[in-house]
Amino acid sequence: MTTALPLSVEVNGEHVETQVLPRTSLADFLREQLKLTGTHVGCEHGVCGACTVRINGEIVRSCLMLAVQANGASVETIEGISDSGEIADLQAAFRERNALQCGFCTPAMLITAQDLLAQNAEPDRAAIREHLSGNYCRCTGYQAIIDAVEATVKSRRALRP
Ligand code: FES
Ligand code: FES
Repeated sequence: MTTALPLSVEVNGEHVETQVLPRTSLADFLREQLKLTGTHVGCEHGVCGACTVRINGEIVRSCLMLAVQANGASVETIEGISDSGEIADLQAAFRERNALQCGFCTPAMLITAQDLLAQNAEPDRAAIREHLSGNYCRCTGYQAIIDAVEATVKSRRALRP
């Protein structure tokens, strides 16, 4: 029998003190123990990007990380990032440009796009494509997603003083 280990982590700004089995991935912990099901699980081996979350501000594939490795860290999922309003314009652009169909890839796509825009406020289409290239979408053909991110670049530019 495997013993659960203590886990102390901040998730979307809230302190969580719990126990978790050592083999539980961060993705499964978020989805199953915390019911944060916006973090999706596709390939479970680091290829599709659907499980992307932010840890201490950096994007990470939560299927490749054990929950216990997040001990002491600050984890942000699509629920927290969306509720804060941080990506409201990006979400609106995805809606307006039909950049989502089934929606499976969308939470991670939004987090990854926001990560790019935080590092580079003026990415061109090639840079957007490159940054999102680790996130698979089986529905849209990517063009509309690139359009939506590009539209957000322009709308944020217009808001800058
Ligand atoms: S589920 Fe994590 S990369 Fe595919
Ligand atoms: S919208 Fe279906 S996988 Fe991207």
